[in-house]
Amino acid sequence: MMTTTTTTISQHNFYGAGDSETCISIIENLKEEYGLFVWPCSVILAEYVWQHRSRFRDSSILELGAGTSLPGLVAAKVGANVTLTDDATKPEVLDNMRRVCELNKLNCNVLGLTWGVWDAPILDLRPNIILGADVLYDSSGSFHLFLFWVLAFSFSPCE
Ligand SMILES: C[S@@+](CC[C@H](N)C(=O)[O-])C[C@H]1O[C@@H](n2cnc3c(N)ncnc32)[C@H](O)[C@@H]1O
Repeated sequence: MMTTTTTTISQHNFYGAGDSETCISIIENLKEEYGLFVWPCSVILAEYVWQHRSRFRDSSILELGAGTSLPGLVAAKVGANVTLTDDATKPEVLDNMRRVCELNKLNCNVLGLTWGVWDAPILDLRPNIILGADVLYDSSGSFHLFLFWVLAFSFSPCE
């Protein structure tokens, strides 16, 4: 019997002035969950983080609906303290996030965070910056996400 695998590793390169560059490897599964492949928005957001890396260095970053986590991983690479989160009911997405951190030798905190489900550890996060790529695609989820942002910011020091 033949089995086909849909898991692949994609490489994402980021270039800056002079000889600064970095590369992030992402484990993707094109046939599975939304959170198991890289969406175009996250490539754009990751590039933004890289281009503004001096602002992200030493910041406390929270990524919502991180999925394969490319923007958060770039932030970790440039020296931010990063918490990657995704739907707590999707252990396969959270496991993949841990594997991707390991693959890139980056030490991020990985947390199940379902929008609108308030949990004590969430209130302790106090990020300086919240990242979210392609997380406003569903109108009911968007409302919870919006509320979460407001709450998270109101507990955080402003830049
Ligand atoms: C379109 S994907 C974007 C993934 C990733 N940010 C990217 O751009 O590659 C949406 C992400 O939101 C997550 N998500 C969907 N509903 C959620 C919820 N209610 N709470 C937390 N995360 C959720 C999905 O698991 C998925 O990772």
